Amino acid sequence: MKYTSPRGTKDILPSETGLWQHIEATSRNVFDLYGFHEIRTPIFESTDLFVRHIGGDTEIVQKEMYTLEDKKGRSLTLRPEGTAPVTRAYLQNAMADKPNHQKLFYMGPMFRYERPQAGRYRQFHQIGVEHFGDASPIADAEIIAMGIRMFSQLGLKNLNVRINSVGCPISRPVIEERIKQFLHTNLHKLPEHIQKKFESNPMRILDAKDEVVHTYLAGLPDIKDALSQDSKDHFSTVLEYLEQLGIEYTVDNTLVRGLEYYTETVFEIVSADLGGAQNTLCGGGRYNYLVKDLGGPKTPAVGFAFGVERAVLLLKDQLKLKQPELDLYIVPMGHPQQLKCFALADELRQAGISCQLSTETKLKNALKNALKNANKLSATYTLIIGEEEAEKGVVILKHMESGDQEEHPISNIPQVLKEKTKATNAAH
Ligand code: HAM
Repeated sequence: MKYTSPRGTKDILPSETGLWQHIEATSRNVFDLYGFHEIRTPIFESTDLFVRHIGGDTEIVQKEMYTLEDKKGRSLTLRPEGTAPVTRAYLQNAMADKPNHQKLFYMGPMFRYERPQAGRYRQFHQIGVEHFGDASPIADAEIIAMGIRMFSQLGLKNLNVRINSVGCPISRPVIEERIKQFLHTNLHKLPEHIQKKFESNPMRILDAKDEVVHTYLAGLPDIKDALSQDSKDHFSTVLEYLEQLGIEYTVDNTLVRGLEYYTETVFEIVSADLGGAQNTLCGGGRYNYLVKDLGGPKTPAVGFAFGVERAVLLLKDQLKLKQPELDLYIVPMGHPQQLKCFALADELRQAGISCQLSTETKLKNALKNALKNANKLSATYTLIIGEEEAEKGVVILKHMESGDQEEHPISNIPQVLKEKTKATNAAH
């Protein structure tokens, strides 16, 4: 084969798109119940937005961005995530002043140059939410609860919420100092890129993917001990509100997440069924300084995003979606009948009846081939009209499953089919 899709991308075929649409529709419904409205931002943004606001020390910025220069020499990057673009749009469009513009959701492709494997792609899709302007821990708990309710409505099982707090920027130097104190005797045993982070951004060591680093992190005192009382209270209120809904969680003292903008609550929803390193279905947290860092007024915010490919992976075996059905397959025999049926198909579709028209023109095999096709397409009915029927002004309507045949005047067909398909749909 001459061309294949680029490494780390994949085609989503009709056998899977039903499941994608189901995931999209379910999340839209759930988001609507919580007052979230859709936003669509461009696929690319200025590179600076990501470098400065996801953080120069993160894996995404250091290794994973698809960056290109346009014809005027501007540096652009295919979005690796949605939070920075949505925040940019929130500010640019003065959305703080508009009613119903504080709770936003988005769905669409993201791009990261990662090593592809099951559940990890270079073009992947996220469905995410961002809630601006509410500093209350109740907003954190509500957004986590919304994620859990949405996943359970989708039928996802065995999920676990991992949660932690990284506090506010004031506690950050204290946390970093504690991490450094804990690691410094073993520093020379750590990989070089980790040693660099030790100086530039020690907190990033906690989300390193290397196993060896985690063995040296075992026994690290809880970073939350270094938080201000306000941050500690914020965190315990989030937990209290989750408990109120009976949502189970695990506090994970080393969870800091791989993006630099987080403050206070950070969380992930993981699935044991995803297996391996790619077990995170959903990640999110609070980011109270991103709007301000982008040049706006101080505006608290909280959000999450989940990977659609990972949800599809989990649901594929669990969920048997109803295959789309075809009401009618039309088999005209000969040119005059074909012309008449072309108009009939048009009329039927306008009446809401799904149909496909056989374009087989060789009379010899027309009927045999057409019936084969009707079976392949799982048509409920087949309509046959030959020269003889056309002369009488009738057609033969065959119910494919039972094999029963009826003759009807061609002019009655839209009405007859409307009644029959209504009855079939009601029986389902
Ligand atoms: P993230 O943890 O980088 O967070 O990504 C969220 C989810 O996107 C992951 O849990 C995973 O399911 C999916 N994902 C990430 N990378 C890949 C990949 N290469 N292939 C397949 N799926 C992937 C964020 O992006 C934040 N913007 C989330 C957020 C929203 N925080 C606050 N608001």
